[in-house]
Amino acid sequence: MTDTLQPAAEQGQVPTISGVEQRRVLRTPIPGPRSQALQTRKTSAVAAGVGVTLPVYVVRAGGGVLVDVDGNQLIDFGSGIAVASVGNAAPRVVQGVQEQVEQFTHTCFMVTPYEGYVAVCEALNRLTPGGHEKRSALFNSGAEAVENAVKIARRYTGRDAVAVFDHAYHGRTNLTMAMTAKNMPYKDGFGPFAGEIYRVPMSYPFREPAEIDGGAAAVRAITMLEKQVGAGRLAAVVIEPIQGEGGFIVPAPGFLTALAEWCSASGVLFVADEIQSGFARTGDMFACDHEGVVPDLITTAKGIAGGLPLAGVTGRAEIMDSVHSGGLGGTYGGNPVACAAALGAIATMEEEDLPAKARRIEELMRPRLDALAAKHPEIGDVRGRGAMLAIEVVLPGTLAPDAERTARISAACHAAGLVTLTCGTYGNVLRFLPPLVTPEHLILEGLDILEQAVAG
Ligand SMILES: Cc1ncc(COP(=O)(O)O)c(C=O)c1O
Repeated sequence: MTDTLQPAAEQGQVPTISGVEQRRVLRTPIPGPRSQALQTRKTSAVAAGVGVTLPVYVVRAGGGVLVDVDGNQLIDFGSGIAVASVGNAAPRVVQGVQEQVEQFTHTCFMVTPYEGYVAVCEALNRLTPGGHEKRSALFNSGAEAVENAVKIARRYTGRDAVAVFDHAYHGRTNLTMAMTAKNMPYKDGFGPFAGEIYRVPMSYPFREPAEIDGGAAAVRAITMLEKQVGAGRLAAVVIEPIQGEGGFIVPAPGFLTALAEWCSASGVLFVADEIQSGFARTGDMFACDHEGVVPDLITTAKGIAGGLPLAGVTGRAEIMDSVHSGGLGGTYGGNPVACAAALGAIATMEEEDLPAKARRIEELMRPRLDALAAKHPEIGDVRGRGAMLAIEVVLPGTLAPDAERTARISAACHAAGLVTLTCGTYGNVLRFLPPLVTPEHLILEGLDILEQAVAG
């Protein structure tokens, strides 16, 4: 096993991680000619609906750097949408995958099982919030995990209705499109959607008066559910403890706890979708940990397996075991190679204390982002937790979203070799999700670029 961080003597202070020197290098305009040629091929070969944020074609990645076909090295503030938390090609992930791929690549766990699947479930049961007895099941994608959480909740409660929130994002399958709030680009023209999904207001502190604190926002949502749906019809309340695609919205303190308490008193399952916020990203292993909220079911994916497709549903043993044998599964769910990757990723998170690294990233980034907001009134809000941070861009002095300026800032970052992502219902949030193993000098350099992009 090699260390994640290997100081490269010949490169002075610049470390090399997973074979990639941790420095930004711009050899061509972004995207360079080779990337542009590949983008032309992409346009002819790939369905137009599969969009690309930044058309630089990657040949290698490690730590906090992506290397493209033109030899450019970009600082990564996206982690492939919160996936490469342990870094790309992280040593323990690579080792686990290589060993597994030589042993066997697939049997289907439902046909002839293997230990890796069981070990990942044991790790999920141990790491997710709550000391109660748990069970887990593994799937391929976040959306599939959310679908299965709903199936399990309906089966256990014998109820149909599912509550979700404004600004929610839960995926792109038919059921999860129904659960996702934003129309464009996720839903437009793709209906009709699955039924029995009810949307209620989220706690969004930046966009509502101070008197709507966490408790008041919870009462608002609960009242709507009681009056418009009926608690007795609800199988589950599904919520992202920090919303991802919807704009990195952190609900006011007390909102999640009040909802969870009401769920528990009403026989409604509280389902935390931690697909984006989970696995060390927010400075705790899970975002629910921050408020001591213990969900009945939790969905995980993204950061779980260092880039290989894997997702999970974990929950109270009696709930998970209420489903008949054969009721859950799928051909590839919990594929042995993905499980080996997950075991390597989880070992990295624990042994290298990646929650602490996420908190350190917040320590570095938050004061700089706050200072930027103080200087530029178009930054209306700085929010997030750990290494899941964002700025919301508005017309100065108002709450009016400025998606155009957000896109311009992001484009300027891209041109300077910093990968940034936008999000938000109004497209006016710039989010920052660096790999948790990013060296500090790259975090600081990324912030320099962002500051110039905002000023420009
Ligand atoms: C909170 C949340 N839930 C579900 C999903 C869907 O995951 P996937 O894209 O793996 O299907 C995402 C993806 O961004 C997400 O952020």
